Amino acid sequence: MKCPIHLSALAFSCKISNLHLKKEKIQKRGKMVLFLLMIACLCIYLLYLQRRKQGLPPGNLGLPFIGETLQLVSAYKTDNPEPFIDARVRRYGSLFTTHVFGEPTVFSTDPEANRFVLQNEGKLFESSYPSSISNLLGRHSLLLMKGNLHKRMHSLTMSFANSSIIRDHLLVDIDRLVRFNLQRWDGLILLQDETKKITFELTVKQLMSFDPGEWTESLRKEYLLLIEGFFSVPIPFFFTTYGRALQARTKVAAALRERVRERKERRKERKGEEEKDMLGALLDEGEGGFSEEEAVDFLLALLVAGYETTSTIMTLAVKFLTETPSALALLKEEHEGIRAKKKESDALDWSDYKSMPFTQCVINETLRVANIISGVFRRAVSDVHIKGYTIPKGWKVFASFRAVHLDQDLYKDARTFNPWRWQNNPPPSSPGNIYTPFGGGPRLCPGYELARVEISVFLHHLVTGFSWFPAEKDRLVFFPTTRTLKRYPIQVRRRKMP
Ligand code: HEM
Ligand SMILES: *[C@@H]1O[C@H](CO)[C@@H](O)[C@H](O)[C@H]1NC(C)=O
Ligand SMILES: *[C@@H]1O[C@H](CO)[C@@H](O)[C@H](O)[C@H]1NC(C)=O
Repeated sequence: MKCPIHLSALAFSCKISNLHLKKEKIQKRGKMVLFLLMIACLCIYLLYLQRRKQGLPPGNLGLPFIGETLQLVSAYKTDNPEPFIDARVRRYGSLFTTHVFGEPTVFSTDPEANRFVLQNEGKLFESSYPSSISNLLGRHSLLLMKGNLHKRMHSLTMSFANSSIIRDHLLVDIDRLVRFNLQRWDGLILLQDETKKITFELTVKQLMSFDPGEWTESLRKEYLLLIEGFFSVPIPFFFTTYGRALQARTKVAAALRERVRERKERRKERKGEEEKDMLGALLDEGEGGFSEEEAVDFLLALLVAGYETTSTIMTLAVKFLTETPSALALLKEEHEGIRAKKKESDALDWSDYKSMPFTQCVINETLRVANIISGVFRRAVSDVHIKGYTIPKGWKVFASFRAVHLDQDLYKDARTFNPWRWQNNPPPSSPGNIYTPFGGGPRLCPGYELARVEISVFLHHLVTGFSWFPAEKDRLVFFPTTRTLKRYPIQVRRRKMP
């Protein structure tokens, strides 16, 4: 018998159980979502806790693996990379965490923190280069040395290029070789190429007393290939840039080895009257066991460090001066004044160099604005506490000189070229703190004075001997290195024999 009540009850219970089922499904799904949300919150919280525990500076690690590398590279490929740093400083403060070139990195734009990093080289921090670069440099280069050996070789390099050595030995050749090069200038030249040639010849002369000629020029060709390797993807096939750089390295090393051997032979023959150059100093030092291979690596790296940097500053000084005619006029006046007291063929001497105050302003300002070494990478050797944060052991730090040099709070109108700023108010206190174009601490550039002298002598002969104008519009880029896109083509006209 089917009672309608029953039926309806059945229907009702059916509906209920249906509802029940739906409700259960919804509840299940709800629970799932809730569960996932809780997990996510937990993860975020744990990460947050870990961050706080580690005390890393705030920041953004960007995408997996590549991090913020693409943003950095694309900013540095323009002539105004500042927004990359500015935006992060605004959001996170002067120390921030990012992820560039394959590793999470603490990026410092703070002068005090930078100073701390530089001064604690060898204690809390170590300089660190990827193996692709150390393969090109060679294991025994100063840049890769550590500990006591580094200390000893750094001071040896310092004393090879200190001011009394420059005054008594190197200056005369600098003057001669700069003139020798400028003599050939006429019409259209690519300034960056020409200055590279000059600084290469100077460095070879200074390191091993070898005068420019075919040997130097063919060595230089290989060097250009070698240097390209530093900024290429390190795939070591013979047809890649990196592979060609490795080959070039072998050739360069062989050529240098020849010079080292030759010198060793000569020293045996006539003891006591050897050339006073870096190679001589290395071999003296080597009585206790400097091998040929070590001497070669050492020289090779010095050539890399000395010549690209100095020639770029020469080129950019000319570019900035060309764009700032009043500065160029003042510079010219200074050098015409020096020339007027000398015979045409007289070389510049140390007292001339010391009476170029405005030239030094121009050089300082070029170094400040151009930042060819935009900063240095270091690795924390242990957990390092700095400015209320903790940098975990093994992490990378980038001490950005660029960010400090172009900080509007530290330099008035920081982003314009204004050599006069060095005249009227030399930048505030503690040198090596807010102005560090040559780094600082145990790895302070040993060539800082030598570079200044070379640039000064170059500018002297350029402004007294020539007039020029840009042949094309050209602009700066900062990646992979600081340079002008078109190697700064100019039209030069000789005013008198340099
Ligand atoms: C305008 C030209 C130059 C600039 C801006 C410059 C800049 C620098 C900077 C910032 C460092 C420090 C790198 C670090 O801390 O990791 C450095 C190191 C070095 N520089 Fe220069 N440099 C210039 C010219 C030269 C010259 C002419 C020489 C040749 C003697 C030279 C040889 C070296 C060497 C050997 C190191 C490594 C020092 C070490 O690791 O102990 N530099 N340079
Ligand atoms: C420069 O180095 C030489 C040794 O190469 C040393 O005799 C001289 O005292 C040094 N001069 C200065 C100013 O440090
Ligand atoms: C240029 O900078 C150096 C620090 O690298 C400083 O000692 C020197 O006084 C500066 N020159 C001028 C003219 O301000």
